[in-house]
This record gives sequence, C-alpha cells and structure tokens, in this order.
Amino acid sequence: MISKSYLNTFSRCDFIEVIACCDLDKKRAEEIALSYNIPRVYDIEDFFQDNEIELVVNLTVPSAHGEIHLRALHAGKHTFGEKPLAANTKEGKEILDLAAKKGLRVGSAPDTFLGAGIQMCQQIIDDGQIGEPVGATAFMMSHGPESFHPRPQFLYQSGAGPLFDMGPYYLTAMIALLGPVKKVTASANMRFTKRMITASENYGEWFAVSTPTNVASILDFHNGSIGNMIMSFDVWGTGHEKLEIYGTKGTISVPDPNRFSGEVKLQKEGEAHFSSYPITSGYIDNTRGIGVIDMVRAIFQKKPHRASGELAFHVLEIMESVLKSSQEARHCNIQSICDKPVILPVSGIQTDQDTIN
Ligand SMILES: NC(=O)c1ccc[n+]([C@@H]2O[C@H](COP(=O)([O-])OP(=O)(O)OC[C@H]3O[C@@H](n4cnc5c(N)ncnc54)[C@H](O)[C@@H]3O)[C@@H](O)[C@H]2O)c1
Repeated sequence: MISKSYLNTFSRCDFIEVIACCDLDKKRAEEIALSYNIPRVYDIEDFFQDNEIELVVNLTVPSAHGEIHLRALHAGKHTFGEKPLAANTKEGKEILDLAAKKGLRVGSAPDTFLGAGIQMCQQIIDDGQIGEPVGATAFMMSHGPESFHPRPQFLYQSGAGPLFDMGPYYLTAMIALLGPVKKVTASANMRFTKRMITASENYGEWFAVSTPTNVASILDFHNGSIGNMIMSFDVWGTGHEKLEIYGTKGTISVPDPNRFSGEVKLQKEGEAHFSSYPITSGYIDNTRGIGVIDMVRAIFQKKPHRASGELAFHVLEIMESVLKSSQEARHCNIQSICDKPVILPVSGIQTDQDTIN
C-alpha cells in the first residue's frame, strides 16, 4: 500500500533511480514494477546480490523491518525503512552497530516531521514565540485501521499496535519540537481481543489481537518539559487535538503528525483564542520518501541526514520502555539520546542532480 507514495516522491527526484523491487509475493512486486517502470523484479535472495543497488527502501511489515535492514547492510547497501526501525532495541542496536562498522547509512520513517506543518511549529518554537517549553499532549485515539486496511493483522501483532504503529509519528514530532526523552511512565491494556476487517476487500474476516491496543504514558524530556501521550485503537471517538505543545508564553496546536501539513494554530500569553498561523515551510502534500531524498543528499554531501537511524532508535527505546513501564509498574529511564533534527530550509530539499555535489 505505502510503496506507491514513496515511488511517487522518488519520481520527482533527479538523483534517485529505482532500478529493482521485490516482495515475498512476487506478483505484487510485478504489479508495482509495471505501474512505475521498474526494470528488475527479484526474488528476495537475488535482490541483495544486485551490486547496482546502492540503497534499499524497506517497506515490509514491521516484523521484517529489522531482518531486511540487516540483510541490506550485510550486502553493503545503505538502508531506509518504514517505522518502527526494528521489533526491539536489541535488533535496533545490531542495525546501528553494523551500519557504523560498514560506514553505511540507516534512515527511518516517519519523515512527516519534514512536512510544512511540523517544520513551521519547529520554527515558531526556535523563534521563542511560545517561550520556554512546558509540555505536550499527544492523542491518537481511533478504532483501528481495519476499516480501511484489507490486511490489518500485522498491525495487531508484537512490533505494531497503536504504540509502535502510530507512536513513531507523535514521538518523532515531539522530539523534533522538544528534543529527546529522559524517562517514561505508562499503563497499557487491550479491550478487544478479536477484531473484524470492515475494509471492503476481506470484509468480515476475524483475527486475533496479540499486543496492547490502549496505551497511556507520561514522557519526561531532557529540556524539563512533560508530555502526556495516549495511543489507542480501542476508542470510537475523541474531541482532543492530536498534538499540542505548551510553553511559558503560549501554546501551539500542531497538525496531525501522520500528515505533511494541516492547520497550525497559536495562542499566545494574554490572548483568549487560538489563531491560525500562516504556513511558509515546504511539503504540504503527501511526500513520503522525502527522508530518503534527504539521506541521499546527505550521503553525497557528507552531512547528517534528518530521519536518522539514531532518531528512530531513540523512538524505539521510548516505545519499548513504555510497555516495560506498564508491565513492571515503574518509571523507566531512557538510555539513548539523539539530536533534535535540524530544521529544513524554507525552499525544501533540492532534488535536481546539479545541486548534490
Ligand atoms: N498503508 C499505510 O497507509 C502505511 C502508512 C505509513 C506506514 N506504513 C508502514 O509501511 C509498511 C508496509 O505497510 P503496507 O500498508 O504497505 O503493507 P502491505 O501489506 O500493503 O505491504 C507490505 C508488503 O511487504 C511484503 N513482505 C513482508 N515480509 C517481507 C519480507 N521479509 N521480504 C519481502 N517482502 C515482505 C508483503 O508481502 C507485503 O506485500 C509497514 O511497516 C507499515 O506500518 C503503512
């Protein structure tokens, strides 16, 4: 499903050529290859043997992310994958260590924080418009993806659920806006042990749930602010804003971090209401894959890329610690740290060949 968004974005970039694709179900890869003029379709074993592939974009199901990243790196290729980075921090660390040893890059979704909405909010905070950060609330509450995804089973297994599937968008956005997290405290449970697919394809098919689907957590950031996050697939409706950032001089209502833009609203000290804030940053439309383009530019320019493996690893450790905190009924300190990603230039990432050297 998601590969099309990436391929549409790559088609607008001069210095990325998609030369091969593969899927466990080869027919799916053949269909995509036909639609996007991709010359080579491989079985998985042969895919990693192709020396002309320099970078692998890993859009497999979450339980396979780690394995595919490792195979790509072992084959000497840079790798960028869908979120989460891996199923657990042990596997995540293996990926980062191997990449460091081989001098290769690892990148990870989400890259929606490079969209106009969150970039604009980052600019507002960096300009000091809301003063010193106080905290954040992040609410993703729905009744799950089975209403639109015809194969939602993987989203209810270990390595997914609302926390690992949707949490990366909210956590990455909060880290981009507030910096890294120091400590978490959480409670998690599951209200529906079986689910029915209501998407038209596969309608009526029941499946079992094997990971928590209702997760509430408190996040302590290194900058002293406190975040309150609920990720749930057990809720039919909510009136909460998806993401708000609070400061000593104002509040920002941040657009949906699963999208590239939306309305940015600001209410400053002494004002009675939020006002819409004009967006001047780039990437208003769905530009999934822009993180890959940024990574490729950064490889040529020998600079850090923004949607980095280190950022994704920090997000992974936070999510793993949220579940551990709930299971063990205690605070969990976060060992990893990452830099706040550098804000994008207003003109966005240049995608023409002439600009990369
Ligand atoms: N669908 C969305 O709207 C969406 C949005 C954002 C992110 N994502 C993420 O993108 C990833 C893919 O999701 P999707 O919705 O496109 O799922 P999908 O089921 O449409 O596609 C996943 C594909 O991966 C293949 N696959 C599984 N294991 C593999 C392996 N070991 N080697 C090669 N191929 C393998 C499957 O056969 C399948 O065709 C997931 O991590 C998901 O969380 C999806």
